Amino acid sequence: MKNLEPKKNCIKCIRLSNFRKENILKYPKYFNNPVSSFGSLSSELLIVGLAPGIHGANKTGRPFTGDFAGVLLYKTLIKFKFANGKYDPGSSDTLKLNNCRITNAVKCVPPKNKPETKEIKNCSSYLKKEISCMKNLKIILSLGTVAHNSILTCFKLKMKDFKFSHGECHNINKNIKLINSYHCSRYNTSTKRLSERMFEDIFEEISTFL
Ligand code: URA
Repeated sequence: MKNLEPKKNCIKCIRLSNFRKENILKYPKYFNNPVSSFGSLSSELLIVGLAPGIHGANKTGRPFTGDFAGVLLYKTLIKFKFANGKYDPGSSDTLKLNNCRITNAVKCVPPKNKPETKEIKNCSSYLKKEISCMKNLKIILSLGTVAHNSILTCFKLKMKDFKFSHGECHNINKNIKLINSYHCSRYNTSTKRLSERMFEDIFEEISTFL
């Protein structure tokens, strides 16, 4: 499908493209490309993260795979039957997603894990296309405010009308709900901003809608 994913050598964001070149030299065995979404376009649930981690998704080529955040995310997805098989960032992974797709607001690894506003904007065209292709979409789960705001941009909605708040469920239109969660990052879990229980509660809520 056209324009669903950035080209391998996407140069929309010069800073990210230069960082990619640096990483190719530094970590030649890593994936080092824009990381494509994972899961079927016919899913009812879309999970939107921030961006690939340098030694995680940027290494393995699959969202949240090898990242600290992926441990909790995939464990929870398995628990709530949105995934089955074995999650393993190494070689014995057999994980399959069920009725769920995972993407990132920014597809390329950003320096220091922080995409710039214009990079988020540049990449939002892929998210918009992805959402428009998901004909069965019922729930979008935003992991953190960057994902949340990027989703609002796709629907031309205003941040002041749809404030990010952990656990909040916004009606985006008659078919689609947007649920907010704190990002399952190492920072948020180690500072106890997000506990495993809190994250599971989000998936309980999602399961009641699907
Ligand atoms: N890895 C990803 O792919 N996305 C995130 O948001 C964090 C880690």
